Amino acid sequence: MDKIKETLRFDYNNMMDSYIGKKEGISEKELNSMKLIANEAHNNFKINRGKGMLGWVDLPYTQNLIIKDILLTAKAVKKAEYFVVLGIGGSALGPMALFQALCNIRHNDLKRSKRRSPKFYVEDNVDPERMQSLFEVLDLDKTVFNVITKSGSTSETMSQFLIISDILKKKYGERYKDHIIATTDEVNGNLIKIAKAEGFKCFYIPSGVGGRFSVISPVGLFPAAVLGINIKLLLKGCAEMDKMCRKSSFETNPALIAATLQYLAMKKGKNISVMMPYADSLKLMADWYCQLWGESLGKESNIFGEKVNVGQTPVKALGVTDQHSQVQLYTEGPLDKVVTFLSVDKYRATILIPAGYENFSSISFLSGHTLNELIIAEMVATEYALTKNERMNCKIILPYVDEYYVGQLMMFYMLQTAYCGYLLNIDAFNQPGVEEGKNATYALLGRKGYEMKAEELNSKRNKSSRYIVGK
Ligand code: PA5
Repeated sequence: MDKIKETLRFDYNNMMDSYIGKKEGISEKELNSMKLIANEAHNNFKINRGKGMLGWVDLPYTQNLIIKDILLTAKAVKKAEYFVVLGIGGSALGPMALFQALCNIRHNDLKRSKRRSPKFYVEDNVDPERMQSLFEVLDLDKTVFNVITKSGSTSETMSQFLIISDILKKKYGERYKDHIIATTDEVNGNLIKIAKAEGFKCFYIPSGVGGRFSVISPVGLFPAAVLGINIKLLLKGCAEMDKMCRKSSFETNPALIAATLQYLAMKKGKNISVMMPYADSLKLMADWYCQLWGESLGKESNIFGEKVNVGQTPVKALGVTDQHSQVQLYTEGPLDKVVTFLSVDKYRATILIPAGYENFSSISFLSGHTLNELIIAEMVATEYALTKNERMNCKIILPYVDEYYVGQLMMFYMLQTAYCGYLLNIDAFNQPGVEEGKNATYALLGRKGYEMKAEELNSKRNKSSRYIVGK
């Protein structure tokens, strides 16, 4: 791709009162009244970019050496038959979203000659049945594991690592280290200590890059490179979106205007944000987005220490599949949602619906159209139905699904999330609400230092059989 001109487009017509009506829509006046506050958020972001937990903003520009190392290592790992990521949350969702978007949708089912890279698995859960079945699939001689954890101590990832390294050690002795690559913080955590002692190949997650913002660090880039994804083009797309947002004023900054609209929607009681891609390739972008939006904005307190309990519950849906499952609710249920469609101008395949069964008009009208026309028509129709029913909806249009536009999309969402954090006056980069559950798990499993928590858990009120039905 030589001449790159297009960018993704953000269409927010159907958020406005002129399209969905005065009762539910956002007025020009309301939007304009946000200009000052939004520009302030933009300036705060500009001042702080690259600092603290805003390290991810610089990643499109600062990784030349790392990319060299990633590509060199990936060249060797590509020869493996199986490539397995062990990680959870931000250490899994980014690689999964890139894989789904930028590899063949049935990559693992393709013959080796067609896929030209290993089969790919991301093990983000600790369901024993799932792990057992993984071993039934893998040939360990031909497998490389990439253990990814920023903290280097996440229980799920570390337990998987313990299981796998034990099996590998028993099978290969010292050579087991050839099957493991670690991606972690360069200084903090236990994984880096183990990795150094054992001699694993390592990639580092910069300290200012949190899990859910790490997709364009080695967390996402290394697996992507192994899978043959053009990571330089991905970063170029990110840089393009960053520049577009950096230079622009309120009206022309897509991530800022999108954040402001979501903020206003929240104020109007739209507490649910549905992401609905009309492309299977973008299906896992919705999973990635759900973590980014949910974990970043769902907060009890603002930066002034006031209790605010803010956030929008992210929900994933897939067009057209969920038209036959969720859209009834979105169209007629509570007026508490904003639906964001992800749409594609040009799909990577075109399939014609052939002629047939001319006597049945309910079938034959499809003939001569393409599946491409059908999926777009269904999206436009859903958009229309939601708008007619006064439901806020907006659309992000990718000219095409490739590295460049996926980079733009992911950067757009990371920027939107950061801007929205500023608008809500919250810390979008921490996750204190996850800690309670983590600590309770440590206590339940007898981790040293968590004895008080264990006592607290033991003293909790016993469950009453009165409220349990069934034997
Ligand atoms: O966004 C985050 O920081 C979290 O969701 C983490 O990605 C998740 O908890 C996994 O953490 P780690 O990479 O430290 O294993």
